[in-house]
Amino acid sequence: MNILLLGSGGRESAFAWKLSQSSHCDKLIIAPGNGGTGTYGTNININVNDFDSIKKIVLSENIDMVIVGSEEPLVNGIHDFFLADSSISHVPVIGPKKEGAILEGSKDFSKKFMERHGIPTASSKSFTPDTLEDGLAYLQTHPLPVVLKADGLAAGKGVLICTETIEAQEELKLMLGGKFGAAGATVVIEEFLSGIELSVFILTDGENYVTLPSAKDYKRIGLGDTGLNTGGMGSISPVPFATPEFLAKVEERIIKPTVDGLKKDNIDYTGFIFFGLIKVGEEPYVIEYNARMGDPETESVVPRIENDLVELFLATANKQLNQVNLVISEQTAATVMIVAGGYPGEYLKGKAISGIENLRHSNAFHAGTLLENDVVKTNGGRVIAITSLQDDMFTALQSATADAGRIYFDGKYFREDIGFDLI
Ligand code: AMP
Ligand code: GLY
Repeated sequence: MNILLLGSGGRESAFAWKLSQSSHCDKLIIAPGNGGTGTYGTNININVNDFDSIKKIVLSENIDMVIVGSEEPLVNGIHDFFLADSSISHVPVIGPKKEGAILEGSKDFSKKFMERHGIPTASSKSFTPDTLEDGLAYLQTHPLPVVLKADGLAAGKGVLICTETIEAQEELKLMLGGKFGAAGATVVIEEFLSGIELSVFILTDGENYVTLPSAKDYKRIGLGDTGLNTGGMGSISPVPFATPEFLAKVEERIIKPTVDGLKKDNIDYTGFIFFGLIKVGEEPYVIEYNARMGDPETESVVPRIENDLVELFLATANKQLNQVNLVISEQTAATVMIVAGGYPGEYLKGKAISGIENLRHSNAFHAGTLLENDVVKTNGGRVIAITSLQDDMFTALQSATADAGRIYFDGKYFREDIGFDLI
């Protein structure tokens, strides 16, 4: 089979690494890919939102399947684009149509979806510029802290946690006034939940689903999970506090009602669902849905999947996931993200990277890198994910952290404490 994978991050590197191991994979094209994905296939430099160029590649390269890594093309309707064009409508797209991607694309929609289907989540209410005064009054009596969320995609910046009423009211005015552009035309005001977060993933064909390994993502830039929020500084899978009892609650109260809810709402969903969860006491609540896998969670989740990934995707496309026996490694995968100095603020690009060949017990999943005249250079904030799969958690964490130290570039930074809080 000829496969086209869309994206350029560490998540797509992990997918490409795994897809290239499949005997079903004759040709793998990654668009646009990064400085490392060329090891697993062929990079083609087209933007994931340029659907016309993607169509041309699908036709010229005889692509048999398209796998969408990131949310933007999904929310923009890439799956619908394929279905609407008879020259490519036969090519399965792994990733939901617009009607399903809205679970991630609109927080207002996802909150109403959860309320409608009895899925545990923080209580909330939505406001628009027309109901600003009601929103300000709602905040006046809302317990603190309070969470404000821009409805649409805001590149991970649309969530504010306010500790004072006046601050929340000012932020609401700014958000409804256009601070996040169209993404903030509706704002969800939400109860603050206190607990520990984890990510749970399923792959669904709309009828059946398989539950993938869960993972924990470390979002903040600084040691001890302090400082600014990032795209993710590391991850670990499995998650020690996600006990079988807890995961059984997640399945009964969250996963099943979500898949059933999609069916009841006539949303035909093909692809991943990422449940961003928070464990409050022993109870799971949904913080958010995403219509894709997580990054850097994928870098820890994919190495634990023992099945052939192409077979999993074929079963998804053919609505045969009920026939799949998912086999998950008992080992622990730990991922440490190496980032450019200054990230998540301003940072420099184009720094030569060395030492990748010196890794002892890990894989390097490239993220923000590019290959220029045979030199790997930095090309983004999150540069390379270092993943180690080991028999026990301590060894995995230690190996990934030690191997992250073997890579060099000017200004490199990584957290040396990823996962050690869970030991
Ligand atoms: P989101 O973009 O919805 O994932 O939110 C970003 C981050 O904000 C989450 O990962 C949480 O750390 C935090 N957050 C969002 N909603 C809540 C909530 N209701 N209570 C506490 N923290 C939250
Ligand atoms: N690691 C969080 C995300 O992918 O959204």
